Amino acid sequence: MRATTICLINQKGGCGKSSTCFHLAGSYARKGRSVLLIDADPQGSLSQGFFGSAVTENLPASETLAALFDDDFFLGSPETLAVPTHIDRVSIVRANQTLARHNTPTPELAGLTQYALREFLESLTGYDLVLIDCPPNLYQCSWNAMLAADFVVIPVPPEDFGTQGLRVVHQAVVNAHRLNPELDLLGHVVTRYDARLLVHQSYEKKLRGLYGETMLDTVIPEASAFKVSLACRQPVSCYSPASKAAALTDRLADELMERIGRQAGQQNVA
Ligand SMILES: Nc1ncnc2c1ncn2[C@@H]1O[C@H](COP(=O)(O)OP(=O)(O)OP(=O)(O)O)[C@@H](O)[C@H]1O
Ligand SMILES: [Mg+2]
Repeated sequence: MRATTICLINQKGGCGKSSTCFHLAGSYARKGRSVLLIDADPQGSLSQGFFGSAVTENLPASETLAALFDDDFFLGSPETLAVPTHIDRVSIVRANQTLARHNTPTPELAGLTQYALREFLESLTGYDLVLIDCPPNLYQCSWNAMLAADFVVIPVPPEDFGTQGLRVVHQAVVNAHRLNPELDLLGHVVTRYDARLLVHQSYEKKLRGLYGETMLDTVIPEASAFKVSLACRQPVSCYSPASKAAALTDRLADELMERIGRQAGQQNVA
């Protein structure tokens, strides 16, 4: 059976896409799910989170996601790109700077290249869940992710610059839906929330007013536990399972699954 596939997108940089993917992977793995992470960002943040910057930067393109976009590479079995991490039940297709030249700004004109990731994922078995981490733009890598995914999650920091540009992101989801009718917006998640800041409180309220039910209930706070566990190359629910950060990540993981269950139920009824 094809794994449930979720991509995290937002053209806003630093809003917590990679961090959310990284920590969610740990939560799902601890709950017994087999997770494949796709690093679809030429920055390679997610890959560096597990393998460090030196290893990641030195990977040949043929061992990264870039291989999917380059006819010069013979792709053996798809499993050779998806490598296990040191976290049980978490594997990853890594990325680095070699992906940058494939991340073209007009993906709709790229013919079959638009479906490279989709085709790759369709040939993979053995995973319950795929999480795709996208770069801070809506170019070819994010487009490929949306054409390969079942669901989109949009991390949003509750600030002015964080909430600007969401209309463009929503339009991109609508455009991708035309080519991938299975794609659904699973929700917006408020990230990097600082409850002490009035501006965060007021933007969170504003977001809930604007986007209503698509806003996920769980809010991911700005917390040092996320940074510390990442520095130790472990998702927070593995490194610091008793922390509030781990509890909230676990809650977000559950909420996403509940929504997926609900949306699947609605589709069945329809
Ligand atoms: N909830 C959080 N609490 C504390 N630090 C966080 C949190 N979320 C993200 N960070 C830190 O903020 C930085 C940016 O986060 P992250 O890389 O996840 O954002 P991103 O959206 O993936 O960025 P980019 O758009 O560049 O890919 C990282 O150093 C990360 O560790
Ligand atoms: Mg990132």
